[in-house]
Amino acid sequence: MTRYAGSLDPEYFEQMFQGTDDPWSLETSAYEQDKYAHSIRVLGDRRYELGFEIGCAKGVLTRQLAEHCRALVAIDVSETALLAAHERCAAFDHVSFNRMTFPAQVPLGGPFDLIILSEVIYYWDDADIRRAAKWAGTHGAPGGDLLLVHWTGETDYPQSGDEAVEKFRGAMPGPVEVVTAERRDQYRLDLWRMSA
Ligand SMILES: C[S@@+](CC[C@H](N)C(=O)[O-])C[C@H]1O[C@@H](n2cnc3c(N)ncnc32)[C@H](O)[C@@H]1O
Repeated sequence: MTRYAGSLDPEYFEQMFQGTDDPWSLETSAYEQDKYAHSIRVLGDRRYELGFEIGCAKGVLTRQLAEHCRALVAIDVSETALLAAHERCAAFDHVSFNRMTFPAQVPLGGPFDLIILSEVIYYWDDADIRRAAKWAGTHGAPGGDLLLVHWTGETDYPQSGDEAVEKFRGAMPGPVEVVTAERRDQYRLDLWRMSA
């Protein structure tokens, strides 16, 4: 399978959201719902001060993360996805949405004590992964968590799920404690704690 070489651009995703209501079946598939439940479960009963979700799509996971954060900033490259995410989370005043292409664009503020990268790093090339990891390492709060969830099957994206996560970890500027490293049939879930 030929892979994309560079990071996939915003138009790629905007076209996906305009072309079908639910690309990747994030709203409907049992697999996705189980994966979301797993993602939330590993956070335990910790409540975070300020979360940052990168690539929130239509906000299905965002809505569940909102219960674990006093404030949550969610971004995506797709305006179409963000409109739906905003609507889904309308009851949550503490969740804000922004159109951004990470890591070229990053939010102001922080530090963030929860950073969520669910099914998004493998769309990036090596340079963007390095930049993203450096940003996370310097804008994550000491003692804060990084949650990464990625499909491990074959793709035509710039990285496989495993390459994406390993490259990201290798580019983190400081050490992280591995709290959870779990593999399921089709995905891996990694929860790392930043040094206090
Ligand atoms: C496969 S979906 C995953 C959505 C959600 N994180 C989840 O796990 O259900 C990937 C999302 O990441 C967004 N995305 C891709 N590259 C991005 C980037 N560089 N910055 C922000 N969002 C991005 C896409 O528009 C899409 O909504």
